[in-house]
Amino acid sequence: MKPSKVLIIDDEPLMRLSMTDALRAVGHEVSAASTGQEAAEFLAAASFDIVVSDLRLPGMSGLDLLRLGKERSPLTEVIMITAHGSVETAVQAMKLGAYDYLLKPFAMDELLMTIDRATKMLALRQENVELREQLEGRFSFEGILGKNSRMREVLEKVKLVAATDSTVLIVGESGTGKELVANAIHRSSPRRDQAIVKVSCAALPETLLEAELFGHEKGAFTGAMRQRRGRFELAHRGTLFLDEIGEVSPVVQVKLLRVLQERQFERVGGNETIEVDVRVVCATQKDLKKEVQAGRFREDLYYRLNVVPVVLPPLRERKEDVPVIAESMLQARSTRGGKSLKGFSQAAWGVLLRYSFPGNVRELENMIERGVALSRPNEEVEVWNLCGHAGCPFLGGPPQPDCGLCHEGLSGTVRAPGEIEPLAAARDQFERQYIESALDRTEGKKLLAAKLLGLSRKALWEKCKRYGIEVGKDEKESSDEESG
Ligand SMILES: Nc1ncnc2c1ncn2[C@@H]1O[C@H](COP(=O)(O)OP(=O)(O)OP(=O)(O)O)[C@@H](O)[C@H]1O
Ligand SMILES: [Mg+2]
Repeated sequence: MKPSKVLIIDDEPLMRLSMTDALRAVGHEVSAASTGQEAAEFLAAASFDIVVSDLRLPGMSGLDLLRLGKERSPLTEVIMITAHGSVETAVQAMKLGAYDYLLKPFAMDELLMTIDRATKMLALRQENVELREQLEGRFSFEGILGKNSRMREVLEKVKLVAATDSTVLIVGESGTGKELVANAIHRSSPRRDQAIVKVSCAALPETLLEAELFGHEKGAFTGAMRQRRGRFELAHRGTLFLDEIGEVSPVVQVKLLRVLQERQFERVGGNETIEVDVRVVCATQKDLKKEVQAGRFREDLYYRLNVVPVVLPPLRERKEDVPVIAESMLQARSTRGGKSLKGFSQAAWGVLLRYSFPGNVRELENMIERGVALSRPNEEVEVWNLCGHAGCPFLGGPPQPDCGLCHEGLSGTVRAPGEIEPLAAARDQFERQYIESALDRTEGKKLLAAKLLGLSRKALWEKCKRYGIEVGKDEKESSDEESG
């Protein structure tokens, strides 16, 4: 195990010395102070992994020192020593963020064990930070974040299709990132230096949409005072993004079919045939196949559009993307607003992971925007800041049926601020995260992950099932093993 940098603060010389010796003997780098004042100077001059401090100190109370230490370096773990067995003070220390406390008199072994645990915890946290950075690099493309296996496939597909001129049909519920994907395709395509022109097909009535897409000649209809170029012309050499393509009327569908087949058209009221070089990307929330079956959408047009389909799953079907997106958005927003926040509280995580996000990523984004705006600097984002409800049940208010976040969040355990999670739940959460990080490391290969974790394949399989961790990717691998 990596040695830690430890600061010991105790006014009793014998205690100070024995602790220092014991820790140095196992390789830790130790500094020692006898007063709060001296400790404050140490903390100002260097950063420590672990601080071990007596609660009672001359000059400054251990609690004040804990506050100071946490302010200076929130990542430092603090272990308090109390001679009085006063559980209350110890609990207060834990609430202020102490890692653990030791009751005097304690054996040096006890101290060593506590330090060991804290060191492991630090290493794990460091690993998580690294993992997160890695995830963000590996699981993002042009601003699209996604760790879920279906989203990773989407990212791969987007990268590949961007290089071509193929027509792309992006399908997904509202807020799943269809426009983001369209932008990504354009920005990483050879057409990136030209324009991406966007048309929302649902926003305009048929005749206006037709003129908008193809342009019109002077006098083509009442109010057509002069000739106007349409979006297809404006997108020449670039990309045309046709949003809500499922809303297009039969008349416009015919015209679209022609321009997609022949790359030519006439302006409304005109005879001149215009040729364009346009890459078309479409998006829809509808199941176009069903629209075809219902006779509302031309089958030939559907096949023209659906050359490369990109399907964006709803956020509720890719919960593992919630932390990746939430953390990245929190960071971006707090940096932009110049407000540093400590991340999400435990309860906020619980609610975020339970919530179904009918508005998908857009809803999550708005929630985080609110969370950042309403949270105080250097504090954690709490549930009531995410939903913005003053009477949030998490603050002891009555359940608010109009607030999905509180409502769904309530289906799990609710804890008042200051209360901590029961050990079993915390252990489950830790175990789940630990398994997920091992699986990430092995890129989803369970056999390898089981080896890393020191578990049998069967035990890992059962745990994955229990925690709802996506399995099945290498079912083949395991059944091969089973039969062999
Ligand atoms: N995978 C993702 N990673 C990061 N941000 C995302 C992701 N998906 C969506 N977003 C963000 O969520 C918001 C909504 O995305 P977008 O506008 O692309 O959705 P949409 O599918 O076009 O929605 P609608 O159907 O309502 O038009 C945007 O601000 C977008 O940047
Ligand atoms: Mg959109």
